[in-house]
Amino acid sequence: MTHSSPYNATLIERQDIHETLAVFKVRYDAGDVPGFIPGQFTTLGLVDPDAPPPNPNSPAARRRRGHKLIRRAYSIASSTEIKTHLEFYIVRGPEGKLTPLLWKLKPGDPVFMDEKIKGNFTLEGIPDGKDLVMVCTGTGLGPFMSMLETCRGTGRWRRLVLIEGCRYARDLGYYDKLTEIAAEDDSVIYLPTVTREPGDSPWDGLRGRVHEVLEPDAFQKNTGQPLDPAHCHALLCGGPQMIDQAAEYLCKLGFVIESREHPEGNLHFERYW
Ligand SMILES: Cc1cc2nc3c(=O)[nH]c(=O)nc-3n(C[C@H](O)[C@H](O)[C@H](O)COP(=O)(O)OP(=O)(O)OC[C@H]3O[C@@H](n4cnc5c(N)ncnc54)[C@H](O)[C@@H]3O)c2cc1C
Ligand SMILES: NC(=O)c1ccc[n+]([C@@H]2O[C@H](COP(=O)([O-])OP(=O)(O)OC[C@H]3O[C@@H](n4cnc5c(N)ncnc54)[C@H](OP(=O)(O)O)[C@@H]3O)[C@@H](O)[C@H]2O)c1
Repeated sequence: MTHSSPYNATLIERQDIHETLAVFKVRYDAGDVPGFIPGQFTTLGLVDPDAPPPNPNSPAARRRRGHKLIRRAYSIASSTEIKTHLEFYIVRGPEGKLTPLLWKLKPGDPVFMDEKIKGNFTLEGIPDGKDLVMVCTGTGLGPFMSMLETCRGTGRWRRLVLIEGCRYARDLGYYDKLTEIAAEDDSVIYLPTVTREPGDSPWDGLRGRVHEVLEPDAFQKNTGQPLDPAHCHALLCGGPQMIDQAAEYLCKLGFVIESREHPEGNLHFERYW
């Protein structure tokens, strides 16, 4: 018996930033990208090489056309204006299940990419013309790239400060693009900060974890303005410990976590694990 392919998409390009960090561009075989909101995610999937052979009658939710897929969520990093493909910013985990398989792919290879694009980590509930502070670690930058690329130049925000925390300068995968955007657009301030870069390296930017850049003196010095919860929405994306620590700190400053009880809240986050 033959089984049809579980795949519905194709990797069209990958840009390796270094051996464990890459940008993947994937297109749906059936046509254009469905509508989505910047900040949303979809799932990528590949057949589990350790799974038993395909069973076309299997009702399991994680099976597609009988094949067992390993699926993981990935934030879309590209602008909603790009209809031909979706872009993802992905780090390969040392003992991950899906990312080592993704790393074996080359352009032209098939992949599963869910047509359902979802997620509430967007700018939808934030009024136009506010100050935005976006804080991320590692590939948590992805949804912010989509927001920036889609909304820059539209007056969506008054001022946007992007604080990106990485271990090493070489992990700043969109550094050139973000530096260029900030140079062209007065409303955007880009503050990359690194934690493990050797002291004698050529890096002359900020050092330390992201919350250190949020501290009043550092924020004022690097942006020229205080971090004022009365006019600002903060968005956090990345690892859960960063989010918990930054959220606790921002709540002490007067930020309120957006929730069912506080829909007007000005602190929003997306945990990657
Ligand atoms: C809504 C959402 C959006 C996401 N978007 C992205 C994205 O755009 N890019 C991306 O690289 N990952 C993203 N992730 C994480 C992604 O879904 C996978 O968990 C990740 O790729 C690891 O998969 P894996 O099978 O290789 O490892 P797993 O076997 O699932 O191992 C997971 C472990 O790896 C670590 N880990 C997982 N993700 C990351 C990460 N991004 N950075 C550092 N350590 C991590 C954690 O310690 C976690 O326990 C997102 C997760 C969610 C929930
Ligand atoms: N082999 C390689 O070259 C290589 C390179 C990159 C990643 N990786 C692997 O890929 C995985 C992901 O690594 P990653 O560097 O993208 O993500 P990460 O481990 O989440 O680190 C990204 C940044 O977040 C910081 N951070 C961690 N906990 C924090 C907290 N509680 N509050 C604020 N900031 C915090 C880190 O600082 P600290 O440095 O202080 O922890 C680092 O600057 C890791 O498992 C790693 O082993 C491998």
